[in-house]
Amino acid sequence: MKIEIKDVIKNFGEENVLDGITLDINEGDKIAMLGPNGAGKTTLIRAILGYYKLNSGEISVDGKDPVKKRVEILKKISFIPQLPPPIKISIDDLLGYICTTSGVKKERIIKEAEDMELDIKANIKKPFFKLSGGMKQKLLIAIALARESELYIFDEPTANLDPKGRENFANLLKGLKKESSVIYVTHRLEDLKGLTNRLIYLDIGKVTEDKRLEV
Ligand SMILES: Nc1ncnc2c1ncn2[C@@H]1O[C@H](COP(=O)(O)OP(=O)(O)OP(=O)(O)O)[C@@H](O)[C@H]1O
Ligand SMILES: [Mg+2]
Repeated sequence: MKIEIKDVIKNFGEENVLDGITLDINEGDKIAMLGPNGAGKTTLIRAILGYYKLNSGEISVDGKDPVKKRVEILKKISFIPQLPPPIKISIDDLLGYICTTSGVKKERIIKEAEDMELDIKANIKKPFFKLSGGMKQKLLIAIALARESELYIFDEPTANLDPKGRENFANLLKGLKKESSVIYVTHRLEDLKGLTNRLIYLDIGKVTEDKRLEV
């Protein structure tokens, strides 16, 4: 999926959280997005997903305005937010809901969860919010990867995972299609060895480095 970000400014109050960001993201790009806490990474991702009206500049996702065509665009994107949402329904009901609304097969989610070493069946009656932090992330990863998307956005999905969980996730990423694009926000570049072709550093709302790697 192609994303064009041009001169984007987003303020919260007096703060220029995105301060003139210009980036082209291409089909097949596997991006590691890095930068200190508060740099604007999550805000940029939310802007790509159409959460925010910009103060100025433009974002187009697949040639479309993500604010105006939000529903259409979100169908092509698998997204894992930085903080798991406080979902009250059981895992069983959650999977049922996802499978009905997105057409993903339940078996596929269970298979991805097994690869993440999360035993869904043992936890099926638990409400989502009662899973441990790492279990929530594993389930969100399984759901995101079970969907065939053109763009995968992971906002620090491994922050709560144990080392084995991080390794399993990296192995699953290797299975994504060549043409799918990935934006992976992380503070741990070492987890993504061989999985990225581009490093983008953000600081105080600006792109400070955009480095392409040989793959
Ligand atoms: N909805 C909001 N309202 C007001 N300020 C916000 C909002 N969202 C983010 N900010 C501010 O924007 C700045 C950037 O936040 P953002 O979450 O984008 O940083 P980040 O790079 O993702 O940091 P981290 O590595 O800690 O996740 C912070 O100063 C934050 O307080
Ligand atoms: Mg963030």
